[in-house]
Amino acid sequence: MSRKKFIAGNWKMNTTVEEAVALAKGVVEAVGGVSDVDVAVCPPYTNLSAVSQAIKGSNVKLGAQDVHWEAKGAFTGKVSCDMLKSVGVTYVIIGHSEQRQYFGETNGTVNKKTKAVLAAGLLPIVCVGETLDERNGGKMDAVIDGQTRGAFEGISASDAAKCTIAYEPVWAIGTGVTATPEQANEAHVFIRNILVSLYGKDTADKMRIQYGGSMKPDNAKGLLALSDIDGGLIGGAALKPADFAGIVQPK
Ligand code: 13P
Repeated sequence: MSRKKFIAGNWKMNTTVEEAVALAKGVVEAVGGVSDVDVAVCPPYTNLSAVSQAIKGSNVKLGAQDVHWEAKGAFTGKVSCDMLKSVGVTYVIIGHSEQRQYFGETNGTVNKKTKAVLAAGLLPIVCVGETLDERNGGKMDAVIDGQTRGAFEGISASDAAKCTIAYEPVWAIGTGVTATPEQANEAHVFIRNILVSLYGKDTADKMRIQYGGSMKPDNAKGLLALSDIDGGLIGGAALKPADFAGIVQPK
């Protein structure tokens, strides 16, 4: 089964509007014409509109870093799917480990967000991954199993097929420590087997599983060569167009 690779830049809480536009233009210049890999950038909410304009006419798509599941109303500080759609968003990152760690995200809220995003016609990037303590304590499989099944509870196979999963071992995020390609692929195969048990092989084979955690131009090729690594969710290296381009088209 060949799945088109998908590289997304998660800019996290970085960039003013001006910086975001400059970065987006740099990304378009470097990889805006690439068509054999899907490419997206996910700036902070405040910069979505400006980045949407900056990437117009290129193959680079726009993603958001989070969303609220309610459609509208008294939810101070939150942003809805329709608001994201109105500024040209295609993808939405859901359940990032930083959301889980610092802002009370649970498997239950991940599930609500995933359903809302799919209902709005947007495409979820659902993040899963274990902490170092969980890995060392032998709980890795149970954690990933719970996160994956929790995220997809009540979601049909046809909707699940539209989703990307990002496997991000928390101990590899922003630390410079990358999972070895073998460690990463093992986790990806484990996740794929959960998807097979939920949806059957045909659907599971369509779903892309990105790796995230200190992915860089010099380790991207080895990671992306493996059977079940279908792309990357890139943090630090997404803030420099040349580094990001070196992951989209690794040498
Ligand atoms: P780094 O690439 O900075 O490790 O971040 C990974 C990440 O969290 C992407 O969502």
